[in-house]
This record gives sequence, structure tokens and C-alpha cells, in this order.
Amino acid sequence: MNSRTIDLEVKTDGRGKLIPIEYPTQLGFPLKRVYYIYDVDNDIVRGHHSHRNLEQILIAVNGSIQVRVKTPFSEEIHTLDDPSKGLYVGPMIWREMFDFSDGAVLLVLASHEYDESDYIRDYEQYKKEATTYFEEHKEQR
Ligand code: TYD
Repeated sequence: MNSRTIDLEVKTDGRGKLIPIEYPTQLGFPLKRVYYIYDVDNDIVRGHHSHRNLEQILIAVNGSIQVRVKTPFSEEIHTLDDPSKGLYVGPMIWREMFDFSDGAVLLVLASHEYDESDYIRDYEQYKKEATTYFEEHKEQR
């Protein structure tokens, strides 16, 4: 599937930890947008959409968050609970974020500006478009 965990290099010294994220060394796409999600109740599920073109990296900079990534062909659940790990999510991957712990902060690095026309929010529509897309991108299934 076109989604995978990325290990970020931590700069540790006696004063604590620092993680730089720079294009193209740590980031496979030039960064156009950053947003973060926090103050999410534990019973809330966010996401429920796919993007046609957007690439993103999700990082739990605090706390723990579950992320379901799926295509019509496969499904994975990742626990994000380590600021030194990112979850890359490529185009045409359906995602749901849930089980936010108290104080969890989800940082998202995105390859493009916010564009509502890049979203697919209806799962039936997603399945239709994704089935066509993955015919041409079988390795990303
Ligand atoms: P939404 O896509 O519903 O969040 P999630 O993916 O977590 O379910 O976005 C919530 C609101 O924020 C919605 O009104 C759109 C707006 N928004 C922006 O203005 N810019 C952004 O970069 C993002 C991601 C959302």
C-alpha cells in the first residue's frame, strides 16, 4: 500500500531531542502546508476521506493516535505514539484517525495547499475512483 512508516532522525543531546524535517532529505515532497489537530475526544473518528493527489506525513507529536489507512484491496492500522515516527500517506488512500489519547496532537505535513476539489469524502465514490486509479498503480494497492 502507498502508505508507510518513516523513521525520523532525532538529534539528542543533554538538553533534549530535536527532529529536523527538511526537503528533500527527510521529506519526499516540497512542503506547501502544515496543520495540526488536537483537543479531539477519544470517541471521535476524523478523516473519512481520501485525496486524489495530496501526499502527507502524519506525526503524533504528543500522545497517541490510531490511523486506519485503506484501499479497496488492503487495510492497515497504525498506532502513532512516537514523535520520531511519521506515517506517509500517498494519493488515493482512504484514512480515518481515531482513539486520540488525552493531549494528543497530530501534526500533518502536506504537499499541496488546501483544495476541497482534491477530496473524496464519499466512500462509494472513492471505491469507484480508486479501482480505476489502482488499475494503473498496482504497486500502490
Ligand atoms: P477536515 O478535512 O474535515 O478534517 P479531518 O481530515 O480531520 O476530518 O477539516 C476540518 C475543517 O478545517 C474543514 O472546515 C476544512 C478546514 N481545513 C482548512 O481550512 N485547511 C486545511 O488545511 C484543512 C486540512 C482543513
